[in-house]
Amino acid sequence: MDFNQHILAWYQQYGRHDLPWQLNVAERGTRIGFYKVWLSEIMLQQTQVTTVINYFHRFINRFASIEALAAASWDEVAVYWAGLGYYARARNLHKAAQTLANKPLPQTLDALMALPGVGRSTAGAILALGLGGDGVILDANVKRVLGRAFCPPLLASAAAYDHSLWQLATRHTPPAPLAADYAQAMMDIGATLCTTRYPKCTVCPVQTTCHAYSSGQISAYPPQKRKTLKPTKYATAWLCYNPQGEILWLKRPTPGIWAGLWALPMTDFALQQTPTNVQPLLEVKHSFTHFNLHLQVCISTSAISMGQSDGIFVSQAGAGRLALPGLYSKILPRLYGPKP
Ligand code: ADE
Ligand code: SF4
Repeated sequence: MDFNQHILAWYQQYGRHDLPWQLNVAERGTRIGFYKVWLSEIMLQQTQVTTVINYFHRFINRFASIEALAAASWDEVAVYWAGLGYYARARNLHKAAQTLANKPLPQTLDALMALPGVGRSTAGAILALGLGGDGVILDANVKRVLGRAFCPPLLASAAAYDHSLWQLATRHTPPAPLAADYAQAMMDIGATLCTTRYPKCTVCPVQTTCHAYSSGQISAYPPQKRKTLKPTKYATAWLCYNPQGEILWLKRPTPGIWAGLWALPMTDFALQQTPTNVQPLLEVKHSFTHFNLHLQVCISTSAISMGQSDGIFVSQAGAGRLALPGLYSKILPRLYGPKP
C-alpha cells in the first residue's frame, strides 16, 4: 500500500469525524460550508482544537453567515474573539468577509490566498475541506509527520527544506474528494500520534515505511529553528476609580498592540521598569510571540481629566462585557475575585 492509503485507512477507523466544522461531501462547496471551514481554519491557526470548539459555536451563532459577519461592527467581532489572541486574525476575517459578502465564493488556490489572513496551507485546507477540491495542506503538524516519514535532507537551508516538504505534501495528497479526508487525517496524526515528544509509533499507520522510525532519527525531525531570546518588556497600568467605584477603560488605538480592544490606561512598553510613586497593587507576567511582558498595576491617586478620549468608566459587570486582551483574564479575577 502507498503512504496515503495507509493514512486514509487509518482515518476511517481512528480519525476525527465529529468536529463541529466538518462537512459531509454534500455540504462541500456550499456557502455555509465554506464559511464554517474558513472560520475554523483561521481560529485553528494558533489555537488548540478544544479551545476553538467553544469559540466556534459562539461565533457562528452570533454571525451566522459571511454576510452577517461583514455587516457587524469590528467592536462586536472583537467581543466574540476576545481571549483567543492574535487579533490580526479576527481583523483579517472581518475584512475578508466584507470582500466576500454577496459575491461568488473564491474557487482557486490563488483566489483563496488573496484573502487577508489566508496563507498557502490554510488556502489548501479550505480548498480541500470546504470546497471539495484538490487542496494540499502543510501546517506545523503535517510538516512534522512528513519530515519524519520521509526525512528530506536537513543540511539545506530552511527554505529548501520547506520546499521539499511541499513537494512531498503535493505528491502524496490523493485527488479530490479524498484530499479532504487525507488533509484531516494528516492533521489528526500530527496532533495525536506523531507528537513532538514521545510519538506513538507503535500505533502509527505509516510506521512500516517511516524513515525516521527505521533509522532512529525521530528526534532530528523537525529540525530546530535557531532560538532567539525573547526580551522582557515592562509597563505600568493604572486603576483610575471614579466616586462610584467604577474603573476607567480606554480603547486601544489602531494600529498597535490590542488595537480596538479595551485596556487600562498604561505606559508604553519599555525595556526597564519605570519606578512609580505608589506600591503596585499587583504584578502580572504574560508572554507574547516576540516578548515577555511584566505589567505592574497601580492605583492612580491623581484626578483624571476626561472628555477628550475614548475612555469610559465601567463597573465590574460592565468590564466583563468589554472586549479585553487575554492578559486581563489574569488581572480581573485579582481585582474582583473569580467570575460570578
Ligand atoms: N488545525 C488546523 N486545521 C485543523 C482541522 N481542520 N482539524 C484539526 N486541527 C486543525
Ligand atoms: Fe511519526 Fe512515529 Fe509514525 Fe514515524 S512512525 S510518522 S515518527 S508516529
